Amino acid sequence: SAAEKGGYDYFMLKEIAEQPKAVADTLLGRIDAAGSLTLDEVRISPSELREVDKVVIVACGTAFHAGLIAKYAIEHWTRIPCEVELASEFRYRDPILDGRSLVIAISQSGETMDTLMALRHAREQGSKVLAICNTNGSTIPRESDAVLYTHAGPEVAVASTKAFLTQLVACYLVALYLGQVRGTKWGDEIGAVIRDLSQISGEVERVLDTMEPVRSLARSLADKNTVLFLGRHVGYPVALEGALKLKELAYMHAEGFAAGELKHGPIALIEEDLPVVVVVPSPRGRSVLHDKIVSNIQEIRARGARTIVIAEEGDEAVVPYADHLIRIPATPTLLQPLVATVPLQVFACELATARGNEVDQPRNLAKSVTVE
Ligand code: AGP
Repeated sequence: SAAEKGGYDYFMLKEIAEQPKAVADTLLGRIDAAGSLTLDEVRISPSELREVDKVVIVACGTAFHAGLIAKYAIEHWTRIPCEVELASEFRYRDPILDGRSLVIAISQSGETMDTLMALRHAREQGSKVLAICNTNGSTIPRESDAVLYTHAGPEVAVASTKAFLTQLVACYLVALYLGQVRGTKWGDEIGAVIRDLSQISGEVERVLDTMEPVRSLARSLADKNTVLFLGRHVGYPVALEGALKLKELAYMHAEGFAAGELKHGPIALIEEDLPVVVVVPSPRGRSVLHDKIVSNIQEIRARGARTIVIAEEGDEAVVPYADHLIRIPATPTLLQPLVATVPLQVFACELATARGNEVDQPRNLAKSVTVE
């Protein structure tokens, strides 16, 4: 009913708007006054966590994209090797697991059969499983050794939005916590990131306040057939997520690429007026990547693409090559997906509406996939 949707036309719009709160709620009580993490619910002891020699993340769909981003954070902050795998592929390739592997299963619903079967397989090999889940008491956390709940509140729309942002927050918390208990050399950086993370919900709010141009851009593209998404580093999984949202909601051909791969094939797809969304890393931090992606934007624009550029406030280098410029607040590199994903959600939702699609219940899809 309209009341359940809190005055919004669709649950998806309501859930996009709830993201600042969902993010803040997921952080609540997990960072103490001294700026350290307290994850009491992670019932895997610090000594066991110090023994971990490999992290393996299993998930499907949007939760898998959260896992891809988590890999960058885990490896950078903890120096523990991390693999991310689609849950549906995992157990069939006889993965190498033992008592020192920490398996993280990410699932909004906690009922996704592929993810459940992957975690059962991991436990059979003696690995500890930590679930990151949004649904209290669901099967995946019940069958795991420990759980870190995301506090997004119920997500009704089939397309995941607020659950994704909170999965990212939970992944960052786990990565930082692993870094904290293992005392890695990134001590100072970890402290700074914890402080930035506690401010991030306000930045998500700021992005939401500036979405009108994104909506009108989406409406103007309603008759297109294809949209491409490019990113690198953590912007690459963001590009994959932008493409998945567009497939699910707008039923358009959408693909996400690692920008560095363009020259290895996908650049052949670029043609006159093709919309290409580019997620640009911060010019601060890993500035080499920034420069490389600016040349990618130049290259595709020279071939006629219509460039839709998502870039940090104050990044002037992209201005000459952006047909449409979407600004996001400056964040530490690894946290950028929390702000960069939001415009892509709004974009897909508006395109779906403009194309007359059912936003909350896309065709052929179920909210949780309980068959393998
Ligand atoms: C996302 O928009 C999807 N509808 C889908 O990819 C989803 O993320 C996937 O099925 C995993 O679901 P889960 O998080 O409930 O396990």
